[in-house]
Amino acid sequence: MTDLDQLLRDLASRLAGALAVAGDPAALDELRTAYLGRSGEVTAIRRRIGELPHAERPAAGKTINDAVAAMEAQIAEATGGIEMRALAGALDETIDVTFPAPPARIGTRHPIRRTIDAIARYFERHGFAVVLGPELETDYYNFDALNIPADHPAREGLDSFYVRPDLLLRTHTSPMQIRSMQTHQAPIALIVPGKAYRRDAVDARHSYMFHQTEGLLVGDGIHLGHLKGMLTGLARELFGREQAVRFRPSFFPFTEPSAEVDTTCPGCGGTGCKTCGGSGWIEIGGCGMVHPHVLEEVGYDAQTLSGWAFGIGIERVAMVIHGIDDIRVFFDNDPATLAALA
Ligand code: DAH
Repeated sequence: MTDLDQLLRDLASRLAGALAVAGDPAALDELRTAYLGRSGEVTAIRRRIGELPHAERPAAGKTINDAVAAMEAQIAEATGGIEMRALAGALDETIDVTFPAPPARIGTRHPIRRTIDAIARYFERHGFAVVLGPELETDYYNFDALNIPADHPAREGLDSFYVRPDLLLRTHTSPMQIRSMQTHQAPIALIVPGKAYRRDAVDARHSYMFHQTEGLLVGDGIHLGHLKGMLTGLARELFGREQAVRFRPSFFPFTEPSAEVDTTCPGCGGTGCKTCGGSGWIEIGGCGMVHPHVLEEVGYDAQTLSGWAFGIGIERVAMVIHGIDDIRVFFDNDPATLAALA
């Protein structure tokens, strides 16, 4: 194997040529395997040592080892070069840290949430607690305890979402009147914002899901005047200073007397416009004096205690605040439309 030196020199120069065009670490790995790997070029040469006379084998082995070390060094140098070029490229990249960032897409608080918060702020200021209740209710809390008779239309599957014969999505926030009075003695003052569900087809005025805020005040000597005062204050807070509130006699099984609550139409100030259908008033909910049956049901003394309750439609209020005539705007959740209302 007299040509050993020549063989190794050729190999080294072929390797140098290949390293010069290798562009990345993966290419270098491939070259290392091809030249120095177990079935690579050097191994093939090494095998041929066996053809040499015994005396020459150690020297040949050393020559090959030296050549391998030299080739390792070549590869290491090429690796260093590639890393340097990558670093230089990264440093060349200029980043303008003063360039204004694209505007962050932050959403807006939903108008329904903002309306609930405004109502809650008003009542909290007057010492009312804000409580939440379950959206799945039993017949007992949604109807019976509220003095709603067994043959009431709302108790039929056609009007309410029943999930079991005795369990339904609450049709109003009123059940929390009962739950709260069962766990708290009078005097009691609270509001209950939340969702309610009815089997209504969706149109500009109806949705199968909507929001209400219930209100309840029970104590000594509580009368209708307190209710009118609180609701007048609320209307002024929500719609403006000049608001008036009127009660229209109505019927609810859990209040006696009962009334619908109207407030001066904020669209026209009471003179009549499209928003109020010319009447000058906007209906925002129902109310009344808590029925003695309801007080007795929770173990309150109906002889000495009295109280009032109301239920306000949040979508209704929000539609008036924002001058919207289609409830679906709140549930389509188009970010641009909602942002325009913010
Ligand atoms: N729960 C009634 C409804 O959903 C609204 C209501 C009326 C609530 C009178 C009350 C009330 O608390 O006193 O139509």
